[in-house]
Parts: sequence; structure tokens; C-alpha cells
Amino acid sequence: MKGFVFDLDGVITDTAKYHYEAWKALADKLGIEIDLKFNEQLKGISRMDSLERILAHGNKQDQYSQAQKEALAAEKNEAYVQLLQNLTPDDLLPGVKDFLLEAKAKNMPCAIASASKNAPFILEKLEVIDLFDAIVDPATLSKGKPDPEIFVKAAQSIGITPEEAIGFEDAQAGIAGIKACGMYAIGILAGEPLDQANQTVHTLSELNMNELIAL
Ligand code: BG6
Ligand code: MG
Repeated sequence: MKGFVFDLDGVITDTAKYHYEAWKALADKLGIEIDLKFNEQLKGISRMDSLERILAHGNKQDQYSQAQKEALAAEKNEAYVQLLQNLTPDDLLPGVKDFLLEAKAKNMPCAIASASKNAPFILEKLEVIDLFDAIVDPATLSKGKPDPEIFVKAAQSIGITPEEAIGFEDAQAGIAGIKACGMYAIGILAGEPLDQANQTVHTLSELNMNELIAL
């Protein structure tokens, strides 16, 4: 293997709780009930697609114009970004910093393949942005996860093929995208089982870098 491709939310840091808090506040306001189980479906899914799923869940998908939906998504994002202000390097998930430093020491390039438009801001807050060689801009994608496009672009951005990369994901949609382009998938277990992954771990500390390179 010649490089690593990381999802952000749920792999590098646990922002799922903030996404949930912000969506829940919006859903409450719209009179739609969502819970943590429903929230699992939103992992890895873009902001607009998440809003569509929430509206559909409340049978309100036809009640808003495109402009109104964009305003709702922006409102959620403002609440979310507010919650991100307190992120610090302490919010990196266990093993992440050491893994990234070891990858750098071994000349293994690392890319971010996240649906989040807030990825650069979050990586700066966590003080790890310099450890990544590339961040795919989700605005350039024609399809979101589970489509493999973002993972193909991530591999390209660090000059390798998907088959030469290991992808890390915490969401089913992401694992599906990784597998669909022939990339090796490591699932980070937090809630839902990730059956399609080549292997699963709870934290990156469980992995041996030399074994990954030798794959
Ligand atoms: C993904 C999250 O990483 O990014 C999703 O798992 C989120 O929950 C998506 O909707 C888009 O994020 P953002 O920050 O652009 O709203
Ligand atoms: Mg994720």
C-alpha cells in the first residue's frame, strides 16, 4: 500500500454528536422528531441530502422551496459551526495523531475524503491540517457517498490508485464507496456494524503501520 484516505467525522474526531445536536434543534423547530438511531443514516451524507432525509422522515419533503431548504441547511450549519468553536487537539480520536505522524515518517501520503465543507476548519482546530497532503473539496463532487467518486479523487490527489490506498470510514455509506473503487476498507466501529469492511477496529491505535504498508 502506498497511502491513506481518511473520512473526517467519526474517524479523525467525533463531530457526529454536534451534527446531531444541530440537526435536532432544526428538526424540533420544524416539528419533526429525530433520534440517535435515525441519525446513523445521516453519517457520511452531505448537508443538503441530510436535510432531505429529515424532511422526508417527517413527511414534509414537499413543503419547502429550494431557497427555503437552502436557508434551513444554512441555519443548521451556523448552529453546527458554533458548536465546533470549542474543538481542540484533545478532541482527536485516540491514536489518530500518532498514526498520522508515523505515516509522515514513513512517507505514506494522507488525504481527507469527507463530505464536510467544514473539514479544513475542523482540521485547523485540531491542529493536524499540516499532516494531510490533500483534502478533497466536496463542492467538486457530482455524487456523494456511497458513490466512490470522493475516494477516487482522494487517491488521485496523493498520486496513487484506489487499489494502492487504504480507506478509513465509520459509516456504511463510506465503506460502500471505498469498496466500490477497489480500495481496502478499514471500518472504525462506534455504533453500527460495518460488515463490508476488510477489517474493523475501535481505534487507530489497534493498527500496525508496517502491516498496513505490507498489504
Ligand atoms: C459528513 C458527516 O462527514 O459531512 C455528515 O458525516 C455531514 O453528517 C456531512 O452531513 C456534511 O458536513 P458539513 O459540515 O458540510 O455540513
Ligand atoms: Mg464519518
